[in-house]
Amino acid sequence: MKLDTTTFHLSPSQCRGSEDVNLVQLTDCHLFARSDGKLLGLETESSLRAVIEDIQQNTDFDFVLATGDLSQDASEASYQRMSQFLDLLKKPAFWTPGNHDCPQQMQNSIQGKNLFHHKRIITQYWQVILLDSSVRGKVHGFLTQDALDFLHNALNDKAELNTLLVLHHQPVQIGSAWLDNIGLKNNAEFMAVLALHSQVKGILWGHIHQEYQQNLSNMKLMSTPSTCVQFEPGSQDFEAGSQSPGYRRLCLKADGSIETEVIRIESQPFVVDYSIRGY
Ligand SMILES: [Fe+2]
Repeated sequence: MKLDTTTFHLSPSQCRGSEDVNLVQLTDCHLFARSDGKLLGLETESSLRAVIEDIQQNTDFDFVLATGDLSQDASEASYQRMSQFLDLLKKPAFWTPGNHDCPQQMQNSIQGKNLFHHKRIITQYWQVILLDSSVRGKVHGFLTQDALDFLHNALNDKAELNTLLVLHHQPVQIGSAWLDNIGLKNNAEFMAVLALHSQVKGILWGHIHQEYQQNLSNMKLMSTPSTCVQFEPGSQDFEAGSQSPGYRRLCLKADGSIETEVIRIESQPFVVDYSIRGY
């Protein structure tokens, strides 16, 4: 699929007049063609609905990032329903694919009044760049030379803007053997590009179905719980986690800092079948 290099400009008036930009990250929704589809015994659509309702009730934000594995089966129907959920949030939403997704099917089927295919978002003080780390037929991630060139050029083009990078796969080891095995394979090449550009202040991803936050030089590294099933932090083999589904809020400050928190949906039980040993 041809790389989309077009830019979406978000004006201060679209950020409620604030110098800061507030956004919401949703990740790893794993919707199925059937709306009652289950992952490890959990209905993924009903947990996503609970997350969307929490955002609607409790979060002010300017745009949405959906960071892959939006579908479990890459079906047209699953992306159409994902589109309907994203449109409920009534703010611009942007997406990047995960290992369970089909980028072409997403491009065709994620449609809605507030849904955009742009991979660069420019605001007054920030640039957000979405990268496709998915590899057809593989679970691990990889950034093609085209993707690395796109990143390098976008960073060169707006060197004066603080930058948040967004992708599906984790670009660092997280201390969980089975997940470290399916992260971004060419993370060294990715980090080599970043070493040339000091304006990168944050990297945000999904894939590992758990909260993670570390600092690396002047960057904040962040991953976010799935809107459905969680994976147990630190597990050496596949292991579902007991924590609730969730999402992440981020505030990109005018001074280049990032304030962020993970929100878990604790208002109802989410039952997972722990006897299933894979996903
Ligand atoms: Fe996932």
